[in-house]
Formats: sequence, structure tokens, C-alpha cells
Amino acid sequence: MARPRVFSGIQPTADSFHLGNYLGALRQWVTLQETHDAVYCVVDLHAITLPHDPALLRQRTRVAAAQLLGAGLDPQRCIVFVQSHVPEHAELAWVLGCITGFGEASRMIQFKDKAARAGSDQASVGLFTYPVLQAADILLYATDQVPVGEDQRQHLELTRDLAQRFNHRFGATFVVPGPYILTDVAKITDLTEPTAKMSKSSSAPQGIVDLLDEPAAIRRKISRAVTDADGEIRADEQAKPGVTNLLRIYSALSGESVADLEARYAGAGYGTFKKDLAEVVVDALAPIRERTEKMLADEAQLDRLLAVGAARAREIASQTMDTVRNRIGFLPPG
Ligand code: AMP
Ligand code: TRP
Repeated sequence: MARPRVFSGIQPTADSFHLGNYLGALRQWVTLQETHDAVYCVVDLHAITLPHDPALLRQRTRVAAAQLLGAGLDPQRCIVFVQSHVPEHAELAWVLGCITGFGEASRMIQFKDKAARAGSDQASVGLFTYPVLQAADILLYATDQVPVGEDQRQHLELTRDLAQRFNHRFGATFVVPGPYILTDVAKITDLTEPTAKMSKSSSAPQGIVDLLDEPAAIRRKISRAVTDADGEIRADEQAKPGVTNLLRIYSALSGESVADLEARYAGAGYGTFKKDLAEVVVDALAPIRERTEKMLADEAQLDRLLAVGAARAREIASQTMDTVRNRIGFLPPG
């Protein structure tokens, strides 16, 4: 039997992905390439829905792709490509936009949040239709499952609705993707503000461990991570969010359970625990950083890998788009 297809995307909107992105998403992507027909996309079209700098976007797109490969995605085993290299994404987004209700799109929570942050008269139409483009990403590849975090559930529901609506109006065209919500993955919080999510848009640099941080920076950030005054190494989300977050990171990277870690560090001080954790993080991230730097040192080779990925993606996307054009009633070019 054919392997189920997974598709996921990540925006190139930071200079580096962080530990939250890695433990919450990328690590699962790497695992899925062994069991699934996996397609992964650096979504640069989505990255221009908020104001951006062109030179920076170009740089961040390369860095993002290099980090995906550095984290372990293998172009022999999955497809890795850049969204703007496959023009069918924008084309399908237009078609899907024409079967999306204005009210339906207006209910998207992430849009409301981002628009509120930008100031509603600053928010672009592109930001408004962001979820429609995401639906196009997913539907172009006959995707069975979409590995994403809980915050993307509503966008997935919209994708399913649009697929069903199109199929109903114009004939069976799209695979309706099932959800694949990554629930039991580590939700990593900010090191200095442990009740807030570690986030590229809201965390201060000291609160984030970047995948590209040097060992010295990782050690410094972890040694300064906010804990609490009771001195016990024990998970308690409510009373001890900082220590709980550090235990979760330790457990996720070492494979030891939180309970085992609690037992092992019973009576030890935060200093010892943080020192050990820092080494666990350094050891986990060093190979990723080194592989990423190697990829970035040879841009021509990286660009070639991305061109191959785009060609493979386009082969699938163009077939879907041919069907869509036909179903929708566009006259074939003579
Ligand atoms: P974002 O950086 O918010 O665009 O997220 C990219 C991917 O990383 C998404 O799949 C998120 O669910 C995941 N992610 C982002 N921040 C965290 C975090 N602090 N903990 C766990 N997963 C995260
Ligand atoms: N909106 C997703 C996020 O913020 C990124 C994304 C764009 C995506 N297109 C996608 C995720 C398609 C999964 C499938 O994380």
C-alpha cells in the first residue's frame, strides 16, 4: 500500500528556528519521513503577509531551508522546497478564495490576532487570505495528514471545508485531509517568562534558544532561565512553570521521562540541574548547527537541492492544478 502523504509548512520569518519549533514541529517532520510520503515547504508567500524586508526574506528562506536539512530532513527521503518556486500555490489560492465566504474567513482567530497586533487598518488583504493559501498548499498535494500544532486546527478545518465544497460543486478533485494535530509534543515556553510560549514574535532573545546559537550562548541562557524559590526539581505546571519547562526540554532531548529526571535530581540544586541540561541541549543542537552551517557555506549546492525539491513538488502540484482548471471551466490554452 502507498504510504500516506503528509504535508507541512513553516514560515521563514526569523533568523533561526528555535527549540520550540524543533521540539514542537521539525523533529516530528524528520520522524515522519521514515513512514510517510512527506512534503515540506518553506512558505515564503505566507511570509510576506506582514511587512518584510526583501533582502532579509531571501536570506531567511535559505537559512530556513538549510536548517530543515540540518535538522535531518533528507531530500532522498522527502520533498523539501520553497513555496514561491511552485506557482500553482498562488494560482490555487485564487480559485479557493473564490469559494471562501467573506464571513468564513473573517472568523479565523489567527487573522484577528495578527490584525489586532498590526492595527486593523494596517492589516493586508494577504493576511486576511493567509488561511486560503494554506489550504491551497495542502490540497495541491493530495495530502492525507497535516502535522501541525493545535494553533493551526482552525486553518485545517477551513481546508477540509473548502475541499469538500469544491468537490461537491465541481466534482471529486481534492483529497480531504484528516487532521494530524501534534498534541503530545513538547510545548516549550520562554526561558525568562515561563508562562508564555517560546516565540519568535514575542520572546526576548534571552528567552529563546535558537537552533543556531553557539554553545556559550546556550549555556548562558539556560543558566539564567527563570525558576522559583522553592529549590525542588519537580514538574508542576501551575506552581513551577520555569522548572517544568526545563524538565520538559531535558526529557524531550534525552528521552528520559520527567519522573526519572525528578528522581535523579532529587535534592540536587538548580545550578547542577541547569548545567547538565545545558550540555544536553548543546549536544543535541551542535550537529544541527554544524550541518546547517555546512549547507549555508555552499549556497549553489543548497539552491540546487531546492530546485530539485521544487521540480518534484511541481510535478504533483501541476497535475492537481490541471484538474482544477478543467473542473472550474477554464478554457484550455490552444
Ligand atoms: P511559528 O514559529 O509559530 O510559525 O511555528 C512554527 C512551528 O513550530 C509550528 O508548527 C508551531 O506549532 C511550532 N512551535 C512554535 N513555537 C513553539 C513552542 N514554543 N513550543 C512548541 N512548538 C512550537
Ligand atoms: N500557518 C502555518 C504556521 O503558522 C504554516 C503553514 C503554511 C502550513 N502553509 C501550511 C502548515 C500548510 C501546514 C500546512 O505554522
